[in-house]
Amino acid sequence: MSESRDLFSKFDDIIQTRENLLASGVEDPFSLVMEKVLSPTRAICNGRDTILLGTYNYMGMTFDPDVIEAGKQALDNFGSGTTGSRVLNGTYQGHKECEEALKEFYAMDHAMVFSTGYQANLGIISTIAGKEDYIVLDIDSHASIWDGCSLGNAQIVPFKHNDIEALEKRLRRIPEGAGKLVVLEGVYSMLGDIAPLKEMIAVSKKYGAMVLVDEAHSMGFIGEHGRGVAEAQGVLDDVDFVIGTFSKSVGTVGGFCVSNHPKFEIMRLVCRPYVFTASLPPSVVATAATSIRKLMHGSNKRAHLWENSKRLHSGLTDMGFTLGTEEPQSAIVAVIMPDLEKGAAMWEALLKEGLYVNLARPPATPANMTLLRCSLCAEHSSEEVETILGMFERAGKAVGII
Ligand SMILES: Cc1ncc(COP(=O)(O)O)c(C=O)c1O
Repeated sequence: MSESRDLFSKFDDIIQTRENLLASGVEDPFSLVMEKVLSPTRAICNGRDTILLGTYNYMGMTFDPDVIEAGKQALDNFGSGTTGSRVLNGTYQGHKECEEALKEFYAMDHAMVFSTGYQANLGIISTIAGKEDYIVLDIDSHASIWDGCSLGNAQIVPFKHNDIEALEKRLRRIPEGAGKLVVLEGVYSMLGDIAPLKEMIAVSKKYGAMVLVDEAHSMGFIGEHGRGVAEAQGVLDDVDFVIGTFSKSVGTVGGFCVSNHPKFEIMRLVCRPYVFTASLPPSVVATAATSIRKLMHGSNKRAHLWENSKRLHSGLTDMGFTLGTEEPQSAIVAVIMPDLEKGAAMWEALLKEGLYVNLARPPATPANMTLLRCSLCAEHSSEEVETILGMFERAGKAVGII
């Protein structure tokens, strides 16, 4: 029998890093179990009542009574799953209602619901940009955007994060007449910074490119109607495709693309991550549609969420933590840790205080950073934010970060 290389040998480095970390005695930050979820902002973890500051439940919709009721009714009336693709037996009334709610939410002509946001990026990006085309994308793009590029056949041209000149330089070099898709995000989820969409979209249009903006972390919160950063910067009409997810502000699971492109509906037949997968369960699309409709009237919640974000940002800055942005730009406040060991120790100290945040490390993070990512929720009370700051102060001093 001939010898072959162990297919798992490529993971040896990460296995070793993980073993070293756990050997230091810290709890594994990547296998926490929520034993019971009490509300959008609290759960029982390790038997303890814990404040959640590391979910994407920005608008706190997961326990909304109307959302829960819609899900229960759909379970009773349509069963637990569709067992089929959207293009065969998997389109129920609820999927159409969900797409109607999205069209209304964004005031756009077309909406297509995918099973996840990941698949929405995978599908739309790989399908619209073909062999002769170019995709120009921010180097810090989400994994689902990169994977959408890998799945397709277009030429991939990355540019430096949020750098308008670098974008223009790349666009200028693309051969005359080639198809071009510029892919941007409203909020970049690791550091919580926003894109200069107004300038970037203007440059993209100057070179005749189509623009796709992933508004996963801004939907429901940023912009007058919660349509995202493109709305806040007054350029939503110039965006060709908005990608979003139901796994953040909407409070369930699923993904979507909305567009005004007159030929958009053909996507339903040619987009493989839409066609060759089962559609979302009826209970999920019912909760999503109800949540989206309620988010249209969420301006008070949006205002409170901004207050929370600003207070957490200023409180942590005053204590001496280094944050991902100088000013709060979204509901994500990223605290930069000196290294993985200190980051894990701080993560554990916060958990013992009764606070859950996300520990993020490469390859998810830019520039090899270890981050404690805090994502605020409109349901965090102002008092809770003060409690959170007290927890950070004690944990930061105990671990020696401040
Ligand atoms: C920018 C961005 N796009 C897409 C996704 C994928 O969303 P989903 O959880 O629905 O797959 C995420 C999820 O983290 C994201 O941050």
